[in-house]
Amino acid sequence: MAEVPPPIKDIVITHKQLFINNEFVDAQSGKKMDVINPTTGDVICQVAEADEADVNIAVDAAVAAFDRKGAWRTMDASDRGLLLYRLADLMEKYHCELATLESMDNGKPYHIAYVADIVLCIKCIRYYAGWADKNQGKTLPVDGKFLTYTRHEPVGVCAQIIPWNFPLLMACWKLGPALSMGNTVILKLAEQTPLSALFLASLIKEAGFPKGVVNVLTGFGPECGAPLAKHPKCDKVAFTGSTQVGKLIQGYAAGNLKRVTLECGGKSPIIVLKDVDLDKAVDVCHLGLFFNHGQCCIAGSRIYVEADIYEQFVEKAKKKAMGMKLGDPMEKTTDQGPQVDNDQFEKILELIESGKKEGATLQTGGKRFGDKGYFVEPTVFSDVKDDMRISKEEIFGPVMSIFKFESLDEVIDRANNSIYGLGAGVLTNDHTRAIQLSEAIRAGTIYVNCYNLFDIRAPFGGYKMSGIGRELGEYALENYTEVKTVYNPY
Ligand code: NAI
Ligand code: MG
Repeated sequence: MAEVPPPIKDIVITHKQLFINNEFVDAQSGKKMDVINPTTGDVICQVAEADEADVNIAVDAAVAAFDRKGAWRTMDASDRGLLLYRLADLMEKYHCELATLESMDNGKPYHIAYVADIVLCIKCIRYYAGWADKNQGKTLPVDGKFLTYTRHEPVGVCAQIIPWNFPLLMACWKLGPALSMGNTVILKLAEQTPLSALFLASLIKEAGFPKGVVNVLTGFGPECGAPLAKHPKCDKVAFTGSTQVGKLIQGYAAGNLKRVTLECGGKSPIIVLKDVDLDKAVDVCHLGLFFNHGQCCIAGSRIYVEADIYEQFVEKAKKKAMGMKLGDPMEKTTDQGPQVDNDQFEKILELIESGKKEGATLQTGGKRFGDKGYFVEPTVFSDVKDDMRISKEEIFGPVMSIFKFESLDEVIDRANNSIYGLGAGVLTNDHTRAIQLSEAIRAGTIYVNCYNLFDIRAPFGGYKMSGIGRELGEYALENYTEVKTVYNPY
């Protein structure tokens, strides 16, 4: 792998306003909100704080850009693809800037932002650039003399609301398919992490997208996200975040029957059978939970280990967690940076306390790390029972819970006994069992002897209360396409 260039020292934050109609503008109210560096708790800068007045202006811009005679709608699909390719090239040019902003704003290690987040973002935009002129309709063999065909058309004006755990990647997962299919967008960033996607907005302008096709808002959920999700002129809303807010979004969308896609929470099980290579299984589970400081919707947060190997597994998992290096995310050797903000930090510590109180065994961690910023020690609980809060609630932090099981039937029922169904892991060298478990678990992604892969070509999304619809791959195009049937007698 190529050497990762160093982060940009003393980076100047150039884009702090709302992006509407290809211009950076202040909020109508003039209000601004603080952007906090989670490593120190210090204010990095302020960005514009949008509310309903700004939402209305941004939606009007996206509506105007969707005009049937406008530059965007009359553009050849191949040229739409070309704009996305240009955007990807610009992201490559500013790879270090984007990774630096992401690390500073979110707290994830810079080298991970560089080799994982930003690389996946670029691949995502290129992938959907390729789809722009390939999502085609069909000619249908209907009864009678009719030329009957389907046209795949854009849905229209799309509201997109994203979280802070993969700020730029979530923006790209949303923008890629929407723009590829010819929609216009109002993207609402997470209040915690606006910097990388505001920079991206400047690249969207530089790439040459017509004005109003992409509009980017920074602001809080109730004040900015809610009026956007409710807006009668938006044809669709796509959301990633908590299940609690996902439920609200579905309600907001009812007003004008917007199309809704939701990617919400998870409590994903990983099932470890006794025939595995133990060290490899511990490595997979470690990555499955601790990656991105546990701030992954698909985090393997319920690890079910077969009784015969339980004690050994716990010992090795604990040792591995204790070996992690916490610290400044800009440092090359850092494995784990801070949690994203004080709310998450307190939520995690409170859930850790509940685990102790309810009788789980704390193997390691459990406390704040250091005395500034939002660092939480890598934490491992064993002897976890299914009715404890740490078994049922999404912790979204570096807290591993290890359960014991005796039989396959038992573990399938326990794994499925959750309101969520985002992902699951199956670790075994027995292929028949791997196939049986992959069928039996109700979840959107099953990882066999691996975890946390997010390939742009493979769909991602949840069963049950983990969401509605699929992102990524060809499947995501459906979320941004209306199918029109045309009958034409001859
Ligand atoms: P959240 O669901 O409140 O925020 C996600 C996005 O929704 C943000 O852009 C936020 O401004 C917006 N939002 C919040 N309230 C809204 C409303 N009433 N109307 C429209 N938009 C609204 O998530 P939050 O508070 O940041 O984190 C809480 C928990 O949610 C986390 O601890 C974690 O368990 C879960 N979460 C799950 C994520 C996932 O990837 N599925 C990502 C982030 C959080
Ligand atoms: Mg919230």
